[in-house]
Amino acid sequence: MNLKDYFYKQKIKSRMLDCFRSSGLFFTNQRSNRTIYIYPKIHAIVHKENEKTTEVTFSLLNGMDPKEVSKKEYVFQQYFGKAIDIDGDLKKYVLTIYEASMPSELTYNFKDIQPVIAPFKLGVICGKDRNGKYVAFDLLKQPHILIAGETGSGKSTQLRSILTTFIKSKKPEHLRLFLADCKKSEFHIFRKVEHVECVLSNPKSIKRMLKHIKKELDERSDLTETFEVSHVDELPKEHKRPYLVVCIDEFVMLRKDEEIMSILTELVAIGRTLGVFAILSMQRPNAQVLDTTIRANLTVSMGFKLRDKVESRIVNTPGADKIETSGRLIMNSDKLYEIQAPYLEMDEAKKLLNPFCVAKEGAKMVYDEPPKQEEKKSIDDINLFL
Ligand SMILES: Nc1ncnc2c1ncn2[C@@H]1O[C@H](COP(=O)(O)OP(=O)(O)OP(=O)(O)O)[C@@H](O)[C@H]1O
Ligand SMILES: [Mg+2]
Repeated sequence: MNLKDYFYKQKIKSRMLDCFRSSGLFFTNQRSNRTIYIYPKIHAIVHKENEKTTEVTFSLLNGMDPKEVSKKEYVFQQYFGKAIDIDGDLKKYVLTIYEASMPSELTYNFKDIQPVIAPFKLGVICGKDRNGKYVAFDLLKQPHILIAGETGSGKSTQLRSILTTFIKSKKPEHLRLFLADCKKSEFHIFRKVEHVECVLSNPKSIKRMLKHIKKELDERSDLTETFEVSHVDELPKEHKRPYLVVCIDEFVMLRKDEEIMSILTELVAIGRTLGVFAILSMQRPNAQVLDTTIRANLTVSMGFKLRDKVESRIVNTPGADKIETSGRLIMNSDKLYEIQAPYLEMDEAKKLLNPFCVAKEGAKMVYDEPPKQEEKKSIDDINLFL
C-alpha cells in the first residue's frame, strides 16, 4: 500500500467513525470516570480507482437496529456526499461512495447509449443518474410514459432522444411510430423516417390515427385470443405484428375530445401485451386529465421542472418542483431516480436520422391540414386511418 492510499483510508475511517457518532450508531461503556464509545466494526476500505468508487464494509454491533442505518442515510450523505449507496441487512453493510457525480450537461451519444439499451426489446434511454451511470428501461416491461414539465424544461428534447434511439436500434418492420405534436414544432424532423407512420398536429387527424390504433388493438386482441397466447410476440410468424408507439407531445390539448381520451385510456390499459405503447407529454399536469385510469397505467413518469408540490404529486415525482436546470428530471418507475437527460439538438438529430429517411409520397404520407387545392390528399389521409 502506498502512503497516499494509506492516508486516504485513514481519512475515510475517521470520517466513518464521526458519521457513526452523528447517526447515533454507537454504544457507550462507563470505565471509572471515562465514557468509552463502541462503534460498528469496519472490516475493509477498498478504493477502486478505475471505477471511481470506494467501498467500506462494516458490521453493526449486536443489539443495533438495522432500520437505523436506512433511517440515517442522510447522515452518511452529509459526510460522504449525495452519491452513495448503502447495501446490506441485519448486520453486514457495504457503503459505496461514488466519486463521479451527475453531469450538469450530457451530450447525446449513441455509441455510449447502444450497449445500455442492448439487453432490451424496446429500450428507452433516460439519462445519467447521480452516480454518473446511464439509466434505461424496457418499454415492454414498463409500458407507457408520462413526461411532464414547465415550458423549456426539456420534454420535447427527451422525446427526440428517445425516438431517435428507437429508430437507430430497431428495424422499421419491427417498430412503427405514430407521432402527434399539437404545437407543430417538434416532430417534422421525423417525417421522412422509414419507421414513422405519420406526423400529425391537427386534432382531427390525430383522432383518425387513434381510431386506426383502436382497430389495431381490436385485431391484436382477437389474434392473441385465437392463438391462445398471452403476448403478441408469441404469435405465429405469419401473424407477427410490429411494436407500435403512439407519441403525443402536449396531449392535454386533446383532453376535451372524449373519443380521443377514451381510445388513449384503452390503449394504456390493454396495450402492453398487444405491443402498443403510448408516450405522452404535458406542460401543466392536470389532475382531472390524469385522475382517470390513464394515470394508473402510465407506469413510468418523468417529471422535469414542475411548478409546485401539487404538480409533483400529480405526476408522482417528488422534488421535481425543486429542479432548476433544463434536462434534469425525477423519474418514477421501479423506484425514484434523479437524472440528467441526454441533450440531442435538432440539427444533430437530423444528421442521425438522415440514413433512415426515405421519400414518402401519397397515401403513405399523412398531411395535417392539407392545402385546400389538394383535397385528394386529405381523402388518402382518411383512407389510411379509417
Ligand atoms: N437534456 C438537456 N440538457 C441540456 N439542456 C437542455 C436539455 N433539454 C432541453 N434543454 C434546453 O432547454 C431548451 C428547451 O427544451 P425543450 O424544447 O425540450 O423544452 P420543452 O419542455 O419541450 O418546452 P415546451 O413546453 O415549451 O415545449 C432547449 O432548447 C435546451 O436549450
Ligand atoms: Mg416542447
